[in-house]
Amino acid sequence: MLKLSNKISNLGTETAFTVLARAATLQAEGRDIINLGIGQPDFATPDHIVEAGVKALRDGHHGYTPPNGILPLREAVCRDLNRRHGADINPDRIIVVPGGKVTMFFAISMFGEAGAEILYPNPGFPIYESAISYTGATPVLYPLREENGFGFSADDLIARVTAKTRLIILNSPANPTGGVTPVEEMDKLAAFLTERPDIAILSDEIYSNMLYDGRVHRSILEYEALQDRAIMLDGWSKTYAMTGWRLGYAVWPESLVEAATKLCVNDHSCVNASAQFAGIAALDGPQEPVHEMVAAFDHRRKITVERLRALPGFRCADPAGAFYCFPNITGTGMTSRDAQTLFLETAGVATIAGTSFGSEGEGFLRFSYANSAENIEAAIDRIAKLL
Ligand SMILES: Cc1ncc(COP(=O)(O)O)c(C=O)c1O
Repeated sequence: MLKLSNKISNLGTETAFTVLARAATLQAEGRDIINLGIGQPDFATPDHIVEAGVKALRDGHHGYTPPNGILPLREAVCRDLNRRHGADINPDRIIVVPGGKVTMFFAISMFGEAGAEILYPNPGFPIYESAISYTGATPVLYPLREENGFGFSADDLIARVTAKTRLIILNSPANPTGGVTPVEEMDKLAAFLTERPDIAILSDEIYSNMLYDGRVHRSILEYEALQDRAIMLDGWSKTYAMTGWRLGYAVWPESLVEAATKLCVNDHSCVNASAQFAGIAALDGPQEPVHEMVAAFDHRRKITVERLRALPGFRCADPAGAFYCFPNITGTGMTSRDAQTLFLETAGVATIAGTSFGSEGEGFLRFSYANSAENIEAAIDRIAKLL
């Protein structure tokens, strides 16, 4: 009998991939499935970015790169951070990794061990809780509340900080709720954390280009006093429709760069070179494709919210960012998991149960509106008929 480590049995997963596989099986059996489950843009990567990747391969960029990423890419990231957040960052603090998730795992394993506590949002991206449990640390949830439009409350988080807290995970705009942290709440938390130099912060800002209704994103990079303990996670997957390229980065505090680079060397050596060249074209090239994509998401967001609100037993907070709606379905009398199963198996509509995003997600269902307006309308028509 093989004996697996406790770490492996403590790992969770991301149900979106399981639902995607089930939807693909049903499709292969000839069923007509509309997928509102998966969190990836339904747009192709813009042509000029694809061309830059192809050119890099033709130009002979076939070998290893430095583990932290090629310098021209890290410089392009710094220019982008300056444009978007007014931040003046040294490229030595940038570490390029294969996707946003890798930074998550690195940061959590840097601070997680038995006896340590790590705070994470719930409902939230499921990999936070999974990776915390993997390290043996105690996951301590802070709730994101429907009545606040799933915006985060600094007091809810601060009340859960103890002497054992080593790391706090923030995510705005948020998956799965579409909630956006109000600037005043970020300011309040930053003031508190300024007095706690023993606590690191992982700020997952992967959806920071996707904001609606005039909402503002306040990056952790804008708090000068926290730069010796803040890790800012971002990447290309969502903004440039590049989920399959596996390209992400983080800004690390200077004191953690060496440890993070060591993790790169141990884990993946470097990101494939052609994706890195494509990443430069994405950041330095025209941003119109991004603006067009975000405008399309905003249009679909309005349709999705309006249609979901008209379903019996549903109510839906206004999502202000990312590309998700997180309606409350308790009025249907179904659990989240039952609704996910019923909608997929009977109506052919893939959604994700709120409980896939933590215990606080019971009674909710995640709809991704990264699909055409036509498909969204058809999917909600099917659910309406079923209900
Ligand atoms: C909040 C959040 N962070 C990070 C990621 C990971 O992105 P990537 O595909 O670049 O690893 C996702 C992907 O769904 C996400 O929703």
